[in-house]
Amino acid sequence: MNLKGRDFLKLLDYSKEEIQYLVDLAADLKYMKKKGVLVDKLRGKNVALIFEKTSTRTRCSFEVAAHDLGMGTTYLDPSGSQIGKKESIADTARVLGGMFDGIEYRGYEQSKVEEIAKYAPVPVWNGLTNEFHPTQMIADLLTIQEKLGRIEGVKVVYMGDARYNMANSWMVTCAKMGMHLTLCSNKKYFPDPELVKTCEELAKKSGGSITLTEDAVAGTTDKDVVYTDVWVSMGEPDEVWAERIADLSPYQVNKAVMDRAGQKAIFMHCLPAYHDLKTEIGKAKGEQFGFTELEVTDEVFESSQSVVFDEAENRMHTIKAIMAATMGAFE
Ligand code: CP
Ligand code: NVA
Repeated sequence: MNLKGRDFLKLLDYSKEEIQYLVDLAADLKYMKKKGVLVDKLRGKNVALIFEKTSTRTRCSFEVAAHDLGMGTTYLDPSGSQIGKKESIADTARVLGGMFDGIEYRGYEQSKVEEIAKYAPVPVWNGLTNEFHPTQMIADLLTIQEKLGRIEGVKVVYMGDARYNMANSWMVTCAKMGMHLTLCSNKKYFPDPELVKTCEELAKKSGGSITLTEDAVAGTTDKDVVYTDVWVSMGEPDEVWAERIADLSPYQVNKAVMDRAGQKAIFMHCLPAYHDLKTEIGKAKGEQFGFTELEVTDEVFESSQSVVFDEAENRMHTIKAIMAATMGAFE
């Protein structure tokens, strides 16, 4: 498998075999890291990390993975670059493309990361846009492979905001990998019908399936993976909170949901999560709207079925695999 020179913008651009290769490469790199084996095959190279939205996992994963591979990193924070303000995306892409060997971009519209990729002569990696979060998906697949021993045929229910980056990414992933996805949400939050159609076509070929339902009982019964994400994403206005809580509360992941899914089901979340009031925003919103936990209960989050911290660690191993493969570390 040779992915040298490829961008990593969305999983629609990758085949099932290529996705599986990245998952397996990440598993190998994880094994070597645990054994203390250095894999600094990209010594002397440098990557730019552009974040127009904040991050803990994705930023740290790119920085640690790049360091492990022997590379230098430059982090551009949401206020620390000219991008989009005084300099166009196309100009920025050409400037950074001349100095760096790879570029990560986290921002708003998917069209921006696609534009950077068009103009930069080096691999470009999507670190999250409004539409897709593809690096998260490779970590989620590695976690599922580790915990359940398989990917194909796995039954996933995604609860909550089903029209944003995580649900879109899950649709594409299940359609490509032959997994069965149920998106369980209020129909106001069902995904873009065009993307659903595309994924249904792909699922037909892979043996997977996509089901949309408002029924939180039928939708969560007998599943291997229960997944959720925040109800208000980065960059969304403060005014949407009240409506989101009202609309999505029936889709909270709680013990009843996990019991219906089954004892062997695992709970996953891309994080960060509002499972208690121990955050500034969680506390303020909890007091304002009268909740103590939101998209997932603290009981489920802290339960033995929850694999969220293994999933978070896997962000680093999988981002390392994505950089290594697209930069040709093993040729
Ligand atoms: N899951 C995820 O992308 O986390 P960060 O926002 O912390 O990078
Ligand atoms: N949907 C969330 C995902 C965070 C990793 C957001 O865009 O904020």
